[in-house]
Amino acid sequence: TKEYNVPKGDLSNLTVPENFPQEIEIYFGSQTGTAEKFSRILEEEGNDLGIIAKVVDMEDFDKEEFKDVELAILVVATHGEGDPTDNALRMHTWLKKNAKSKESDLIKGVNYCVFALGDSEYEKYCASGIFFDQKLEIIGGKRVFELGTGDATNDLETDFATWKTKLWPALIEHWEKLGPVEGMKKKASSKPKKPKVKYPLVMGDPEEVNEEHPIQPLCIRQYVGGKDVKIHSMRELRQTSKYGSCLEIIYDLEGTGIEYQTAANLAVFPENNESDVERIVNRFNLVKDKSFVFKNAEGDDEKRKHPFPTPCTVGEALTKYCELRGPLDRKIFKDLSQYATEEEDKKELERLSGNDAGADIETMKQEFTNIIDIVEEYKSIDIPCAVLLQLLPKMMPRYYTIASSAKLSPTKVRIAISLSNYKSPKGKEFFGITSEYLNRIFKSGFDTGSSPEVVSRIFIKDSLFKYPEDPATPVVMVGPGTGVVPFIAFAEERQELIAQNPDVELGSATLYFGCKEDNEDYIYKDELLQYREDNRITKVYEAFSRQQEKKVYVQDLIRENFDEIREAIVNKNGQFFICGAMEMGKAVEKILEEILGEEGEEYLKQMKNQKRFAKELWS
Ligand code: 2AM
Repeated sequence: TKEYNVPKGDLSNLTVPENFPQEIEIYFGSQTGTAEKFSRILEEEGNDLGIIAKVVDMEDFDKEEFKDVELAILVVATHGEGDPTDNALRMHTWLKKNAKSKESDLIKGVNYCVFALGDSEYEKYCASGIFFDQKLEIIGGKRVFELGTGDATNDLETDFATWKTKLWPALIEHWEKLGPVEGMKKKASSKPKKPKVKYPLVMGDPEEVNEEHPIQPLCIRQYVGGKDVKIHSMRELRQTSKYGSCLEIIYDLEGTGIEYQTAANLAVFPENNESDVERIVNRFNLVKDKSFVFKNAEGDDEKRKHPFPTPCTVGEALTKYCELRGPLDRKIFKDLSQYATEEEDKKELERLSGNDAGADIETMKQEFTNIIDIVEEYKSIDIPCAVLLQLLPKMMPRYYTIASSAKLSPTKVRIAISLSNYKSPKGKEFFGITSEYLNRIFKSGFDTGSSPEVVSRIFIKDSLFKYPEDPATPVVMVGPGTGVVPFIAFAEERQELIAQNPDVELGSATLYFGCKEDNEDYIYKDELLQYREDNRITKVYEAFSRQQEKKVYVQDLIRENFDEIREAIVNKNGQFFICGAMEMGKAVEKILEEILGEEGEEYLKQMKNQKRFAKELWS
């Protein structure tokens, strides 16, 4: 459910001084891909400033190379309980060892700065990034910009965007202050500079892959984890289509080796539709069925990672790995302008990528113009296939919360997705990419009760929703709309607890649900009714927002029932969960603070530290 879209900044009014590092490395420590994505934004910004910026997977950290880096920017996520991410482990261990023995000359003069990603729901917020920031200084590094932190529970994108807006001007000022001589690169001649090639991979025949030319690992780490899984069934969850559609998808994990945890996240890779792919294929005269592998261009960095797994066909690459309807930004126009063969097109694309084009891009976005429309409009754009596949933005997975219990159904995992469709000011209707993809699968037979053979690429990721270990612990669950999903999983978990031990002493489980109207968009209504009968859920409070004159929201019901909530979470040491839209989550937390009285804020903090309070919100 979380997608991080941070736009690349406009750096056109910045100029780097002559003594500015000409080559910078951006190291990422990433578990789910966000830190990696942020690194790529910094890479593009660095390139826009005319310096060579290179993204490095921390897994490939090389201490000898690191000592020579002119400027290292680290983008470091924290995983689990304040731990480094898997790919950062080795560098973390190296740093720990040398910082302990105070090797203060080890990386003397290496300029660095760190952006740390974390989650304030956890006690050790941003611990891994903070570790890198502190320890690099101990072993001789020079911090050239303040540590930035980003909070996944609040607004990670804005935190990062704010930090990086200050970053470049601060770095420029830093080197300007040093003056032309002092700031000069310390080992200017030690490393011959490679010419910068923007799209260094070329296409080869699959037969060319052998021991001497192995297939390179991937940049986008999620592609490694994804597996093709059969869709078992799909159904519509809303009673009517008045407020749109919400689909339940059940995947069949039998024989895949995939395991999941109750109420964890499931990542879906959407696929572009055939007609979009056809349009690109036709526009550039591509051979859709041509199978290829990526190879490094002559003289290129041998360790370069590939953007997606090959061998595959051109058609597959365009369907699965390239985002054809992603948001347009200046960079796309700039990249395309370089491949326009007619002066007029080139000028227009350059204008669109330039300073005064902001308004145009906004209009295009509103009309859902996308990269396909653009290349069809500017007919002189001519891009070789290999470049095109590197230039197009990469398809990222989308995360959804799981609505089933791993104990009750270990091989069937289900999610629910409300389909997002938009209308442009001119009335053009448009589906989100994943919504369009899943709706297409639904309409291929599931909608009429048949079960077509469809596989979809997915993987499982941890979430913050964990049912209490002690079954006697009361839980209060707030989940309006699709936010109810993890609590359906919790109800199933309770069913399994009862099945295992009929005498089990279960704490109360209170659900606050909300939707627009009782008989229109109430998802899992029948299930919830059933759950109430057999104690899988103790009580359901329902807020129907559009059934009466005045809107009623879950937070209004929470206020009315505050005695009961206090009893559950304060007196009985219960747990509190919120899932759903950002605005709702904020409102609920505020009410809760009020209910808890003077020490409300402090109490909530304590609950978070004790892991008795968890929320996952989306905007
Ligand atoms: P509305 O769309 O009628 O305003 C699930 O989407 C439910 O959450 C709907 O009933 C929706 O009401 C409601 N909702 C929208 N904004 C909300 C907010 N800020 N706080 C709580 N509920 C909200």
